[in-house]
Amino acid sequence: MNTHESNRHWFSLLLVIVTVTTSIYPIIAQNSTTYVPAENILLNCGAPSGKLYALDGRAWGGDIRSNYAPAIKNTVSAIPSNQNSSIPTVPYMTARIFQTKFTYTFPVTPGRKFIRLYFYPSNYTNLNFTDSNSSFTVSVGSYTLLRNFSALLTTQAMNRDYMTKEFSVNVSSNTLNLTFAPSSGKENTFAFVNGIEIVSTPQIFDGSDTFSQPQIVGTTSTLTIDEHTALETVVRLNVGGQSVSPVDDSGLYREWDDDSPYIYGAVVGMTYPKDPNVTIKYSDTIPEYIAPPVVYGTARSMGPNALVNLNYKLTWIATVDAGFYYLVRLHFCEIIYPVTKVNMRVFDVFINNMTAVQGLDVIAYTEGGGIGVPIYLDFIVFFPNTSASSQQDLWIALHPDISNKPVYYNAELNGLEIFKLNDSTGNLYAQKLSKQQTVDTGKKKRIRRFLFISIGVAGAVLLILLLAYALRHWRRRQN
Ligand SMILES: *[C@@H]1O[C@H](CO)[C@@H](O)[C@H](O)[C@H]1NC(C)=O
Ligand SMILES: *[C@@H]1O[C@H](CO)[C@@H](O)[C@H](O)[C@H]1NC(C)=O
Ligand SMILES: *[C@@H]1O[C@H](CO)[C@@H](O)[C@H](O)[C@H]1NC(C)=O
Ligand SMILES: *[C@@H]1O[C@H](CO)[C@@H](O)[C@H](O)[C@H]1NC(C)=O
Ligand SMILES: *[C@@H]1O[C@H](CO)[C@@H](O)[C@H](O)[C@H]1NC(C)=O
Ligand SMILES: *[C@@H]1O[C@H](CO)[C@@H](O)[C@H](O)[C@H]1NC(C)=O
Ligand SMILES: *[C@@H]1O[C@H](CO)[C@@H](O)[C@H](O)[C@H]1NC(C)=O
Ligand SMILES: *[C@@H]1O[C@H](CO)[C@@H](O)[C@H](O)[C@H]1NC(C)=O
Ligand SMILES: *[C@@H]1O[C@H](CO)[C@@H](O)[C@H](O)[C@H]1NC(C)=O
Ligand SMILES: *[C@@H]1O[C@H](CO)[C@@H](O)[C@H](O)[C@H]1NC(C)=O
Ligand SMILES: *[C@@H]1O[C@H](CO)[C@@H](O)[C@H](O)[C@H]1NC(C)=O
Ligand SMILES: *[C@@H]1O[C@H](CO)[C@@H](O)[C@H](O)[C@H]1NC(C)=O
Repeated sequence: MNTHESNRHWFSLLLVIVTVTTSIYPIIAQNSTTYVPAENILLNCGAPSGKLYALDGRAWGGDIRSNYAPAIKNTVSAIPSNQNSSIPTVPYMTARIFQTKFTYTFPVTPGRKFIRLYFYPSNYTNLNFTDSNSSFTVSVGSYTLLRNFSALLTTQAMNRDYMTKEFSVNVSSNTLNLTFAPSSGKENTFAFVNGIEIVSTPQIFDGSDTFSQPQIVGTTSTLTIDEHTALETVVRLNVGGQSVSPVDDSGLYREWDDDSPYIYGAVVGMTYPKDPNVTIKYSDTIPEYIAPPVVYGTARSMGPNALVNLNYKLTWIATVDAGFYYLVRLHFCEIIYPVTKVNMRVFDVFINNMTAVQGLDVIAYTEGGGIGVPIYLDFIVFFPNTSASSQQDLWIALHPDISNKPVYYNAELNGLEIFKLNDSTGNLYAQKLSKQQTVDTGKKKRIRRFLFISIGVAGAVLLILLLAYALRHWRRRQN
């Protein structure tokens, strides 16, 4: 590489850094609802019939005298005794309480649906039960979504007041039966739910596309995610960006969270939005409903310093239940200049410390589609049901692949989704209570400390580069 060329590289690298460090996240205009679901049901449980609007503007219908709940006689509707303005009124300020098995019946078109359940554990008025008396099972057909479930213990572990659970089930008939049943073998337990959402989705897992047979990492086998597979969402992250609310998703009403609480390690890399000139180019293989432009339009990369990058792995960790297969979906898109050509940024992807992809070049993968063309890659990981711990960490790590001497020693990611797959008996429930958030809180503290370090590193690197460039420039003028 001659001096002129190397100078150019220094300069473009410098430009990238300056752009990245000075740009403020733009508010990306959202007009991305290209997919219109056949079913889009929002049932406000325990509320009278008629529409009530949630904070995001979506209309919820009450389940009293609703067609979905023809026989609500053996249930009571209740309101939480501890009202709190920090908790969204719709759907959380009413609930339906079940003391015996109860089934909601939703008439639907056959196909895959997201089922989202909303829970606000509380003492409810006119009930002899307290919040700790709730423990129940939720099932759809032959799939058990939740079992022995305590929303109280789960939210306490997450350090939150309320929660949602998201599942994806393919319905083969014209009815979706959602059954709530108090835990058996326990005296005086009750089941409850505050809201139920059903949204039909395209074939996002089991499509006829090339990704439908993801590899089981560390093996040469694949696992087919077909119509018989039910999934539970573990995490869905807008990597390098802010959280995306359901109404800003591309038609499937998914929530995408900020990835920073899931980052592990000493160096957290750097986040950046897409270049304003770049548009996300969707295609038949990657339609907009796979992930909205706001997700592909932000990313996290390793950072500007090749030496630093060669000495660490950009790593995310999520806590999962042992005894299940997981689908890991990674979303990539090159969104800033000058990364427009093959062999500019090439990296390895590790899942649970095993090589998932060697030498991933996003630009090459899109067959020269270039900047702004999104891709996603699916992988399967299995966590054996060991006696050691019912909770395990799922690791996703990126590291530069320098075997073909790419222009930049770097790696990047735009979105990350992890789904739990049903076990061989159709269950998705964990044996023990999930302690996911207690782990995350600890992680956050660690991150805050490391953030300072990495900001310091980035600043120092920028300074060194500026000096280096100035020096070279000055030397050239001397010649
Ligand atoms: C937004 O979507 C609507 C229809 O869904 C379309 O008519 C309009 O042109 C779109 N606007 C932009 C800026 O894409
Ligand atoms: C409402 O919730 C907030 C946050 O969880 C809490 O700090 C506050 O004490 C609660 N207020 C009441 C009246 O429960
Ligand atoms: C519910 O009531 C029980 C018994 O009175 C009490 O111990 C518990 O703290 C209450 N829960 C809440 C969230 O107020
Ligand atoms: C609560 O208990 C009291 C007395 O123990 C009983 O009269 C009442 O019917 C019970 N209420 C409910 C909703 O079960
Ligand atoms: C339900 O939880 C209780 C303890 O809370 C436990 O003893 C019981 O085995 C669990 N049942 C199932 C089916 O997991
Ligand atoms: C759902 O429940 C209804 C009423 O019990 C029943 O007729 C129908 O066959 C059930 N559908 C499925 C798919 O189980
Ligand atoms: C609620 O749970 C507590 C503790 O497990 C138990 O002592 C009490 O009897 C339960 N209440 C009812 C109404 O079953
Ligand atoms: C759902 O299942 C039905 C029959 O079981 C099948 O025909 C259909 O293709 C499946 N849909 C999806 C999206 O997998
Ligand atoms: C971005 O677009 C503007 C206006 O079309 C153009 O002047 C500029 O050169 C473009 N920048 C890049 C990096 O392509
Ligand atoms: C895990 O193992 C325990 C006992 O060893 C068993 O009860 C449980 O059903 C297993 N869970 C799964 C998901 O296989
Ligand atoms: C991956 O490696 C790290 C550090 O080398 C270790 O702490 C972690 O337990 C490993 N993870 C797995 C899933 O093996
Ligand atoms: C999920 O459940 C279905 C139906 O019970 C079964 O055919 C399939 O093999 C299960 N998936 C896994 C990964 O065990």
